[in-house]
Amino acid sequence: MLSLSVLMRSMVPTEALSMTKMIQVLREEHRNIEELLLVLEQELLVFDRGERPDYEIIRAVISYFQDYPDCCHHPKEDMIFEKLKVRDPVAAESVGDLEVEHHNERTRLQRVADMVRLILTNHDVPGQKFDHIMGDFIEQERRHIKMEERLVFSAAANALQSEDWAEIDARWSEARDSLFNVAMEERCQSLRERILHWQRKEGELENDAFVHK
Ligand SMILES: [Fe+2]
Ligand SMILES: [Fe+2]
Repeated sequence: MLSLSVLMRSMVPTEALSMTKMIQVLREEHRNIEELLLVLEQELLVFDRGERPDYEIIRAVISYFQDYPDCCHHPKEDMIFEKLKVRDPVAAESVGDLEVEHHNERTRLQRVADMVRLILTNHDVPGQKFDHIMGDFIEQERRHIKMEERLVFSAAANALQSEDWAEIDARWSEARDSLFNVAMEERCQSLRERILHWQRKEGELENDAFVHK
């Protein structure tokens, strides 16, 4: 007997599934990225309270952002945007230049990484500068994610044709299957889980210390 999910799949055109699947994956990736932005924000709050943030956690989050988006997230968005430029140039125009946005993300991240390296090599970094550079990175990442979900994904869902989604899906599956990408995605995934685990442990320790005061 056919299971319900198989039956439902057979009733939905495959092209719709492909589009839905791709946008759903990108949204899930955004949620994962946002969890790490929250970790950075918590460390920034520690810094703003005049305490020492956990620089190991900050460095791990930087490392994640240095590898994950370019390996696993941006390529899919760039492929979708390329198709959008062809199918709906006006919508693409209203988004601006996604590649430049991704490039600017890397620049802002590099600024965070350079600043943290200075601190860890005992250089003086004014508090205001730390606050500005870290805060700017977090804020701009969130803005970018919101913009993509509001403009890029909805415009792509309206304008791209079934063959576009099929091509993106095929190109991505091929790229993803390379050994490098598989290893990188696994490494980033496990790094993300470790960061969230450390952060939870730190929160528990802080709560314990507060209770036993
Ligand atoms: Fe993006
Ligand atoms: Fe994105």
